Amino acid sequence: MVEQSISELRNAIEAQLPAIASADDLERFRIAFLSRSGKIAALYDQLKSVPKEEKPKIGQLINALKQDAEARFEEKKANISSRTSGLVEAIDITLPGRIREKGTRHPITRTMDEMKSIFTSMGFGIVYGPEVEDDYHNFEALNFAKHHPARDMQDTFFVKDDLVLRTHTTPVQVRVMKDRPLPLRVIMPGRVYRNEAVSARSNYFFHQVDGLYVDKNVTFADLKGTLVTFAKNFYGSDIQYRFRPSYFPFTEPSLEMDITCFLCSGKGCRICKHSGWLEVLGAGMVHPNVLRNCGHDPEQVSGYAFGMGVDRISLLRYGVDDIRIFFENDMRFLNQF
Ligand code: DAH
Repeated sequence: MVEQSISELRNAIEAQLPAIASADDLERFRIAFLSRSGKIAALYDQLKSVPKEEKPKIGQLINALKQDAEARFEEKKANISSRTSGLVEAIDITLPGRIREKGTRHPITRTMDEMKSIFTSMGFGIVYGPEVEDDYHNFEALNFAKHHPARDMQDTFFVKDDLVLRTHTTPVQVRVMKDRPLPLRVIMPGRVYRNEAVSARSNYFFHQVDGLYVDKNVTFADLKGTLVTFAKNFYGSDIQYRFRPSYFPFTEPSLEMDITCFLCSGKGCRICKHSGWLEVLGAGMVHPNVLRNCGHDPEQVSGYAFGMGVDRISLLRYGVDDIRIFFENDMRFLNQF
């Protein structure tokens, strides 16, 4: 009887062994067969009912079974733990880690942010307008007559008949003058587009910051004061500057501002075309026609406006020699900022 149980149990153990593949399987095997409440222990209980003279023989059979089962158990255990430790070794801790790229602000954004923070500290608000503009806001309301040659100053991308990609941020001036009550003191940063040949110095899209101040008694002196304060904050308090008369359809009188070339300190270099000066912005008093187009009486209120490019200035500030590299999303370039 007991002998039969022993041989059945031996078969059962043999049948279980190949299925042991994990530490959990191993533990289940141990509990089922080798533990105190396991099947081998139960055989020792049956030994009590075996006739005395057979006890040594049966006892030896059970002992042998137990030893075999324990040996197979240890064998499996060694097998499984070497496999798992093999897995641990498969992780090569000498491999370099994966680098998480750190984001940085784009150089154009940095230049714009600096411009914004200087103007906001001077009391200007910030306004954004659409990049797809109608002819009215981009040209007509700004005093560019329909067939006026001044339109040729800005080679335009047409979206369809009456819609263009804005060629400057100045149309936002029209929008704010129409929409908001006076006094108005805002800057208008954004991207603009022109159908130009692409080169190291010019691209078909770039960035501008326009400014506008409209109120009672705004004067040309206010304009100059604002521009000089900005330039000294932005370019450094030791720069020299000069104003030259200029022409824009939407301002009268108009000016352009130059500063001493900050690369050669005015001595003359390739960047300033050996003049010692860099042209940095256009400005003027808001043209009476523009005030009228936007619902204001030029006899009652006056205003000044200015506009500056961001990209060329960024080139100079960061010593970059090709404007196109700003927009190629090359990490080797962007990582430097
Ligand atoms: N919109 C002009 C341009 O794109 C720049 C400019 C000049 C803007 C004079 C102004 C301004 O607001 O008053 O070249």
